[in-house]
Amino acid sequence: MITINLTNQPVTSVTQKFTFFTEELWEKEKNNHHSTLQNLFSGKKNEIFISAEETSVNFMVGLGGKPQNFEIQAVASKFAYEFRKKIQAVPTLINDVDFDEDQVAELVKGLFLGTYTYPFKEEHPFFKPEFSVILNSVSDEKFKNLQLKTLALCEGQFACMEWLNKPQNFKKIPHISQFLKEIAEKHQLKLTVFNRKESEDLGLGAFVSVNQGSSQEAAFTILEYRTEVKDAKTVGLVGKCVLFDTGGISIKPSENLHYMKSDMGGATAVIGALIAAATLKLPVNLVVILPITDNAVSNTASIPSDVVTAYNGKTIEVLNTDAEGRMTLADGLSYLSKNYKTDALIDLATLTGSSVRMFGYTCGAYFSNSENLKKSLEKSADATNQRLWNLPLWDIWKDDFKSDVADFKNISSKPFGDCIIAGKFLEQFIEGHPNWAHLDIAGVAFGNIGYMTEKGATGYGVQLLVDFLENYS
Ligand code: BES
Ligand code: MG
Ligand code: ZN
Repeated sequence: MITINLTNQPVTSVTQKFTFFTEELWEKEKNNHHSTLQNLFSGKKNEIFISAEETSVNFMVGLGGKPQNFEIQAVASKFAYEFRKKIQAVPTLINDVDFDEDQVAELVKGLFLGTYTYPFKEEHPFFKPEFSVILNSVSDEKFKNLQLKTLALCEGQFACMEWLNKPQNFKKIPHISQFLKEIAEKHQLKLTVFNRKESEDLGLGAFVSVNQGSSQEAAFTILEYRTEVKDAKTVGLVGKCVLFDTGGISIKPSENLHYMKSDMGGATAVIGALIAAATLKLPVNLVVILPITDNAVSNTASIPSDVVTAYNGKTIEVLNTDAEGRMTLADGLSYLSKNYKTDALIDLATLTGSSVRMFGYTCGAYFSNSENLKKSLEKSADATNQRLWNLPLWDIWKDDFKSDVADFKNISSKPFGDCIIAGKFLEQFIEGHPNWAHLDIAGVAFGNIGYMTEKGATGYGVQLLVDFLENYS
């Protein structure tokens, strides 16, 4: 449990100030400053100027011209990270008079979210008991919400990033299962886990085919969060949780193979959102399914040409064991659809290299059969700058994964458009759910990010889902 220390009570001695300037604000303000300073600072995005005043140090931070709220958060975040060695653990005034409450909220969220480093330790000066953020212009009521929201997002996003960043041998199935058990206890979530034998007996044949080559026992995991609010909506979330994807017998090349520890990016986004939603006690019910396994190479592993029966009775010919994500999600989706009544069903997955080749690190690719769900998701994606771009689900693509020996094969006969093929494939397992969306986040969950020299977890999906759930409820 981290501590977020905010106050809106007047404090007598302030020795540290953070002043955030938009370019517009600096234009107005700069005449009140020394002429030298007028030339040394301009308010450009991410510009930092430290000015020592008689009794205090003022970090001036440029926000650029007319910043959007997510840009304010990003600048604050980068500042908190890059100046972690210079910032002191003392009561710190945020000069917030010229910002509206939403902008102040972005500043505060950004400051705390920027404290993350791997492995996470509460080393940042913001977590020292002597540190507090002094806000003057936020009302008491909004202030409490902001404190809770910042805490919830930090808890959720840090857990997401921490698990994604862990090396393969630190995130074996018992490790993550233990963590989920602790989360369930802390937030009073219902937890159900099916091991390999139980999954097999239930008929989760597509999922089991991925786990069968592993020395690690499968954990088809269900977490349920119930709000006390009556008549609340229920959202089903499925997260791809392949702890490491070697490709299986259709083995991947060794170059950059270590990055396949990030193949649980869908699950970590969902876990982060679940933690935040439960901390905030959002008035919505959540059913979360994480089909947890790795994709290993061994003499018991699934072999190309195998035919397996999925939970919904459809048979699948495994032509490439590296197309394992859609196998685990197929059973996750149909299990959720058949056993729970949900108003919306959303899956997130680091599913295809094809989506990375298409959109790079810019946005996730998403598919949906519901115009309303599309609107809500895009609104949240734009607001949080965790962008999504919609792709079609035309029936013509169904022909590309017809099999000679089963209902479907797990790859396309054509060498292109796999991101779409995978989405269309998953649609065969939603059991007619009218409000489904699939988010392929392979390019955005893990990338080049400030706090690591190698690629690291971006936290993509947590704020997107939290914003979606807040507005959906
Ligand atoms: N986990 C990968 C997708 C992936 C690629 C995630 C790059 C993150 C970065 C997935 O399981 C996979 O291997 N997909 C194959 C599918 C192919 C065999 C049809 C791919 O995209 O190459
Ligand atoms: Mg794969
Ligand atoms: Zn994978």
